[in-house]
Amino acid sequence: MIEVSLPLKFVALAITVGTLVGNVIAFPEYQSLGGLSRREMAEAMSKLTPRVYQGAKLVDDKDHPFRAPGPNDQRGPCPGLNTLANHGYLPRDGVATPSQIISASMAGFNMDIQAAKLATYIGHLLDGNPVTDLLSIGGKTSRTGPDPKGPSKVSGLRTHGTFEGDASMTRGDDFFGDNFNPNRKLFDQLKEFSKRYGGGYYNLTVARELRYHRIKQSIDTNPTFELMGHRHFTAFSEAVFPTSMFVDGRVSGPLAAHLDMKPAESFFMNMRYPRGFFRASKPGSADAESIPVVLGNDPTRVGFQAGRNVRGVKTFVADGSQGSLFSICTFYEFFVGKRIKGIYPNPTGVLRRNLNMNLQFLFDSLSDQTNCTQMFPYGRD
Ligand code: HEM
Ligand SMILES: *[C@@H]1O[C@H](CO)[C@@H](O)[C@H](O)[C@H]1NC(C)=O
Ligand SMILES: *[C@@H]1O[C@H](CO)[C@@H](O)[C@H](O)[C@H]1NC(C)=O
Repeated sequence: MIEVSLPLKFVALAITVGTLVGNVIAFPEYQSLGGLSRREMAEAMSKLTPRVYQGAKLVDDKDHPFRAPGPNDQRGPCPGLNTLANHGYLPRDGVATPSQIISASMAGFNMDIQAAKLATYIGHLLDGNPVTDLLSIGGKTSRTGPDPKGPSKVSGLRTHGTFEGDASMTRGDDFFGDNFNPNRKLFDQLKEFSKRYGGGYYNLTVARELRYHRIKQSIDTNPTFELMGHRHFTAFSEAVFPTSMFVDGRVSGPLAAHLDMKPAESFFMNMRYPRGFFRASKPGSADAESIPVVLGNDPTRVGFQAGRNVRGVKTFVADGSQGSLFSICTFYEFFVGKRIKGIYPNPTGVLRRNLNMNLQFLFDSLSDQTNCTQMFPYGRD
């Protein structure tokens, strides 16, 4: 009796559900697609909504409305990450785990996974908390001890001289007092350069001219100017990003990789998707094709090499000791062996283990493009 009634009950239920949602035969979302016949595969595909998809899609959608940050929400110098937080791809308070930052960069801008990992782990190791696994995309000044007049410290991506550095295209140098808010004069300069070199659009030619111009401006006015180590390659990469990630993914043909000034203003100044924005049509960031265009082929151009002002303004000297676009392994060795080791000289317990884990992620993000020798400053686990 029971053996018969159970299947009958099941059939009855299936019919009810089927009638309600239009003849859907359940295909569990977690079920493997291996070994299905062609017909079964077609049937399954018609039922499943892809969660992983690497093409263009609407990202300014109803689940991700723009909301301006509140007084306790932290924002920093990166227009990409700020946009992701303002639309809820990242926690709106601006504090996130490395995994959340990597996933959000991929979901919201189609940033490629290697670049997202590299940037995130550089940022997290310098500015984040390896024990709680949290990083602020902005940063707050907070006291390091209980004394209200005692020493205070900024942390998060806003911290100058960590990931954040000089000669940004649309943010001022820290020396002049604000290294992270959008700067109207600098944005107007970006527009001016786009008119002069890009026919009104920001393209890779504009990126090159503006990149060098900003370096020159900083050398001439900022006595503490520095463009060393990873800042040398992030400065050139970030000049490419607007062409690869701020341009609507439906654009192709002659205007591909050409950013119009209205969306440029939306991202750089308002940190908001243009209405109905589609992310890029393929994973990208800055690569072996785009970076050489921005770098150009004139090694005598100031800023082509990494370096800094050594004795006040206009005293730029090339200095590749922390690595550069031309020597990623020198960057890696300096970063791990000197920089991180300097921040955490003798970690123990969970801090040591977590530093090792994050250093491994950093190395992994570099290893498909470089042959650097892995370093273990805190021993092997
Ligand atoms: C999601 C895709 C991303 C986009 C579209 C993007 C875009 C940009 C752009 C265009 C700039 C240059 C701003 C300027 O020079 O005026 C920049 C700067 C910056 N980005 Fe991102 N970025 C992305 C992901 C990331 C990630 C994953 C991190 C690290 C966790 C990061 C950290 C930064 C920082 C710290 C700066 C400031 C550097 C400086 O100018 O001093 N970004 N980003
Ligand atoms: C940028 O635009 C200008 C003006 O149309 C054009 O001459 C230049 O070739 C473009 N650069 C690239 C890399 O497409
Ligand atoms: C890394 O080393 C391998 C083997 O020696 C070589 O085939 C490969 O081209 C190298 N890759 C780079 C980026 O130097």
